[in-house]
Amino acid sequence: MTIWSKINKEILFAKKIHNFFENSSTTANGKKSLLALCISSKLPANSRNSMSTQIQKIAILTSGGDAPGMNACIRALVRTGIYYGFEMWGVTRGYDGLIRGDFKKMDLRSVSNIINRGGTILKSARSEEFRTEAGMEKAYQQLKERGINALVVVGGDGSFKGAYHFSNKYDVAVMGLPGTIDNDLYGTDYTIGYDTATNTVVEAIDKIRDTADAHNRLFFIEVMGRDAGYIALNAGIAAGCEDILIPETKTNIDDLVVSLKKGRANRKTSGMVIVAEGDEEGGAYEVAQKVKEQFDGYEMKVTILGHIQRGGSPSCFDRVLASRLGVAAIEGLKDGQTKMMAGIINNKIVYTPLTQAAKLHSDMDDDLYRISKILSI
Ligand code: F6P
Repeated sequence: MTIWSKINKEILFAKKIHNFFENSSTTANGKKSLLALCISSKLPANSRNSMSTQIQKIAILTSGGDAPGMNACIRALVRTGIYYGFEMWGVTRGYDGLIRGDFKKMDLRSVSNIINRGGTILKSARSEEFRTEAGMEKAYQQLKERGINALVVVGGDGSFKGAYHFSNKYDVAVMGLPGTIDNDLYGTDYTIGYDTATNTVVEAIDKIRDTADAHNRLFFIEVMGRDAGYIALNAGIAAGCEDILIPETKTNIDDLVVSLKKGRANRKTSGMVIVAEGDEEGGAYEVAQKVKEQFDGYEMKVTILGHIQRGGSPSCFDRVLASRLGVAAIEGLKDGQTKMMAGIINNKIVYTPLTQAAKLHSDMDDDLYRISKILSI
């Protein structure tokens, strides 16, 4: 192929991507599929590992908010790494442990009997020190001392930003895996922990429904999601909530009051409003207070579900997802990929550059929101 035909082909490819993303009618899933296509056909130049030495030892850490399924993921990483002949190391307490040299060698049995356990056997933390040059340098020296030149980070967007900068600065290959209950990462349909957390919320709201119905009360239930309303939206539909308040859509208290009044007029005797903690009108307490000032049709109560959402035995879905992604991370590193996040889009493994996974966030599904409005009348 001549240089000009090669350039023309690349321009055509870039135009296709541009047009696709410009088309506003394209769904979030469609965009994800295209991204998958882009990524599988054209990996960015710096996503290939150009390290001077071959990977022999791989370290794993879990970072940020823990999520059910992280242990299943650690298990998959350790076993796959050993299967392919790598030496596997666990780092305790995320990037803080990396800085302090808190490493333990992992063998096949160090991950026995953990697939069913919530939390993370490696512990987790949010590290301020790793954001500094000095912190990163210390972390690098710890890896270098042990001859480790690849790192798998299971976490959310903040953890990926750290991993990306680290890998840009030092001769260490990094692979990210989406581990957060928030499901807000670009480059994967689901994050590890989201399914379990959503089911925990549904189970809790089902219980609240019983007592709400018994006393003819209206409940405001606050769920996690500082920046994202996935848990609230899906659990809200599954638990049959009257209204769903999330950060991605504008919340109008007057509209909420109108819809609650309509429900009352339609002979509803109790109700539940699910509020993502990041909603711009405030958490469940603030929203309940604002509604109370305009409407006295129900006795109102507030429940904050809190960290109960992060614990518990992972669901079958999360265990399988974590297992698949753990295998994909090691295979990606083995094939020379770096600065990527392994995710699943349309049930296929896809590698997305860490910069995109951390920055873009996944779109909210407008159709789900529409459905919730129809079904709650
Ligand atoms: O990042 C996941 C998340 O669950 C958010 O939805 C929530 O705001 C946050 O963690 C809470 O984290 P912490 O354990 O630090 O209170």
